[in-house]
Formats: sequence, structure tokens, C-alpha cells
Amino acid sequence: MKMQSNEATFQRHTPGYDGVAKLLHWLVVVLIAAQFVIGWTMPDIHKGTLPDGLIAWHLGVGATLIAAVVLRIVWRLTHRPVPVVLSPFHNFVSHVTHGLLYLALVVVPVLGWANASSRGWSVRLFGVLPYPAISSVGSPVGHEMGDIHGYLAWVLLALIGLHVLGALFHRFVLRDQVLQRMLP
Ligand code: HEM
Ligand code: HEM
Repeated sequence: MKMQSNEATFQRHTPGYDGVAKLLHWLVVVLIAAQFVIGWTMPDIHKGTLPDGLIAWHLGVGATLIAAVVLRIVWRLTHRPVPVVLSPFHNFVSHVTHGLLYLALVVVPVLGWANASSRGWSVRLFGVLPYPAISSVGSPVGHEMGDIHGYLAWVLLALIGLHVLGALFHRFVLRDQVLQRMLP
């Protein structure tokens, strides 16, 4: 009984993520939301399609997203958050979901980038700093990557759905402070 109340006290006072981690988390959320909206509304891409209009936006926002994800991972590896006290089951589910989210945050954008390279499209940060081409122009593999990019975007969306449900479960069912750890 005493242990439980100690545990509850510890949870209430567990500090959350630092300001940079929170900023990068929410920046990535906004950029991904934009990528879904643009990706679903931009015109179909065929051989010879020019990367302008919404396609240019998808590549531009994508370049910012890649930079934000890299910063986020570097920050996470160098600034470990205080772990939250959870049951072994919740701990496991949260670790697996976060791990898969990070994996998808890398793989989905890289496949889009490879597809852009195979079309000969340059990916530039803020329209200025060019990223290197990661597949050769006309490469069939790079082309395939575009389809896989589209499919894996759905997998990412499913993971995000699971993650948001988890956050709401903590807030409204377990009524602990996990959601607050990522809020300003
Ligand atoms: C997590 C971030 C991203 C999401 C959620 C996303 C989402 C999407 C979606 C939904 C499509 C349309 C797929 C279809 O209609 O089949 C698409 C296509 C595309 N995306 Fe992304 N995207 C992301 C990041 C990127 C990045 C970083 C780049 C490149 C810098 C990129 C380049 C492309 C290209 C070139 C296509 C056209 C693929 C094709 O039709 O062959 N995307 N994306
Ligand atoms: C694009 C959508 C999102 C992505 C890709 C994403 C990704 C992530 C990742 C990878 C982590 C693990 C952080 C770490 O420990 O390294 C995390 C943590 C967290 N996210 Fe998200 N997230 C998204 C949206 C959201 C939303 C909408 C909410 C709130 C409803 C949310 C709430 C949280 C919370 C509370 C944590 C901290 C969990 C903990 O303390 O263990 N996330 N997110």
C-alpha cells in the first residue's frame, strides 16, 4: 500500500521532456500532418511530370521534415528523458510503438526522397540547401520506392493513431501524467 502511494507520488512528479524535445515533437507532428494533406491532394505523378505546385510543397516540407527528424533523433540520443513509471506491459507497448514510430519517421521520408532522386528532382532545405541524390535518375528501384512510400505512409498513420489512443488512454483512463510530459 505504502509502495503504491510512493509510486503515485513519483509519477505525479516525474519531469517531462525538455523544451527542445517538445518543440521538435510538435514541429514533426505539424510537418507530418502537412505531408499527408499535400501527398493526398497533389496531382498524380507520371513520367515527365514537373515538380511544381503542390509537388514542390511536398518536397520542400519533406526536406524540412528530414532535418527535423535528424535533429530530433540526435537530441533524443543525447538528452534522455526521465523514464516514466509504468507497468511492464504498458512499458513494453510504449517502447515498441515509439521504436516503430522512429523507424517510420526515417524510412517513409527516405523512400520519398529516393523516389524524388530517381525522377531527377532536387530536394532542397528552404529551397536553398540541396540534399544529395540518393538514387540514380531513372532507377527502377527508386521508382518502386515511391509506391512503397505511399503504402508505408498508411502504416505510419496507423502507428500515429495507436500512439494518440495511448496518450488519451493515459490522460482519461489511467489519469496519470504521461500526456503532460509532452505538453508545454
Ligand atoms: C512522413 C512524411 C511523409 C508523408 C506522410 C508522405 C506522404 C505521401 C503521400 C500520402 C503520397 C501520395 C502517395 C500515393 O498517392 O500513392 C506521397 C507521395 C510522394 N512523396 Fe511523400 N510523404 C512524406 C515525406 C516525403 C518526403 C520527405 C519526400 C521527399 C523529400 C517525399 C516525396 C514524395 C514523392 C516524390 C511522392 C510521389 C511518389 C510517386 O507517386 O511515385 N515525401 N507522399
Ligand atoms: C505525427 C504524429 C506523432 C508522431 C510521429 C509522434 C512521435 C512520438 C515519439 C517517437 C515519441 C517518443 C519520444 C521519446 O521518448 O523519444 C513520442 C512521445 C510522446 N508523444 Fe507523440 N507523436 C505524434 C503525435 C502525438 C500526439 C497527437 C500526441 C498527443 C495526443 C502525442 C503525445 C505524446 C506524448 C505524451 C509522448 C511522451 C510519452 C512518454 O512520456 O513516454 N504525440 N511521440
